[in-house]
Amino acid sequence: MIKNGVASSDNCSPEKRRRTVRVWCDGCYDMVHYGHSNQLRQARAMGDYLIVGVHTDEEVAKHKGPPVFTQEERYKMVRAIKWVDEVIEGAPYVTTLETLDKYNADFCVHGDDITLTADGKDTYEEVKKMGRYRECKRTQGVSTTDLVGRMLLMTKAHHSNIEKNSDYQEHTDNFGKGPKGHSPWTGVSQFLQTSQKIIQFASGKEPEPNDTIIYVAGAFDLFHIGHVDFLENVYKLAERPYIIVGLHFDQEVNRYKGKNYPIMNVHERTLSVLACRYVSEVVIGAPYSVTADLLDHFKVDLVCHGKTEVIADKDASDPYAEPKRRNIFKSISSGNDLTTDHIVQRIIKNRLHFEARNQKKEAKELAAIEAIKKRCDEQTKGILDPKSSE
Ligand code: CTP
Ligand code: C5P
Repeated sequence: MIKNGVASSDNCSPEKRRRTVRVWCDGCYDMVHYGHSNQLRQARAMGDYLIVGVHTDEEVAKHKGPPVFTQEERYKMVRAIKWVDEVIEGAPYVTTLETLDKYNADFCVHGDDITLTADGKDTYEEVKKMGRYRECKRTQGVSTTDLVGRMLLMTKAHHSNIEKNSDYQEHTDNFGKGPKGHSPWTGVSQFLQTSQKIIQFASGKEPEPNDTIIYVAGAFDLFHIGHVDFLENVYKLAERPYIIVGLHFDQEVNRYKGKNYPIMNVHERTLSVLACRYVSEVVIGAPYSVTADLLDHFKVDLVCHGKTEVIADKDASDPYAEPKRRNIFKSISSGNDLTTDHIVQRIIKNRLHFEARNQKKEAKELAAIEAIKKRCDEQTKGILDPKSSE
């Protein structure tokens, strides 16, 4: 059955259902966040094999504005998401039947927001018409636009333990919005963590007897390719690695990183890290110093830290003193010097560009909403007064 151009599952014949269902997603995937991961998770659950097309820098710049991350960085980030089977580099901005056929994809999946080209056309128009489009739920409370806003703002109101302050509210109420109202897709809203979401993202696997249990800890704020490279290298240390990531609470991260860090609160950081294919388990609010209790509780075989500075605990002690005493501490190079601070610097350097990009996106969405509303009104008028539609 095809409803509003969206194919529902009951149009698959039993033969079709038995073969591998190939699903296509595409997007910019700039500053990959748990909203993107959640979209890919939902898409993967609609089939058996997930192919993700990522646009080039040139395409993103043309239709949306300058990306924060380069195409190479964006390809790598999407590859690290555990629900992705294949990445197609440089996928076209407009999704056509030709693209779906080229990669043998049964249908494509997009969030329930709207994506428009530079001249305001729905990029999924063709595949919707042909019934090869499906929708998943967009994750509320996170978008690249919102994250850029938080970085430009430099307040702490996004921290999970701090009440919204008026500065933040005032700024987010105005940030990136057109003159009338704001887009329901891009507008800022608060992310609410639920146990269901954690269950959906978690591996749910206990370590097996032959697994090597490796513990790493940190902020993992704005989960980026520096983190991915680090975790990939840690993963390579063992034949059967079981990586546990200890995430520090927001107050702790703020103690050692200062400013308005972390940009993402602990609930958000939990999902970003769980979406990574190298991670098996997350400790939400790990102690800053790696204690004997923690090592014994998880039966940790190895503790790793990257080449970034190890900041002392509140009492000036080394947080890795216990694993070092047990001779199970290893320093691992990620070969990547990207830090959350660098990302913020990129944003600040290009502040005007990003503000313009956010405003452009929201203005386009508002125009689309107006057009949809107008079309609905005309249709209703036509139903009530059949003569008017003749
Ligand atoms: N997406 C989502 N939830 C979010 C953000 C994005 O489900 N909070 C989905 C989009 O609906 C789309 C896919 O992720 O199907 C890729 O989105 P992308 O092209 O990167 O752009 P945006 O939707 O503009 O994402 P953002 O606003 O974060 O830039
Ligand atoms: O800085 P943060 O606490 O997020 O770092 C988490 C872990 O990732 C640390 O072990 C850090 O050394 C490592 N890392 C890395 N290379 C980067 C960024 C972080 O190895 N570019």
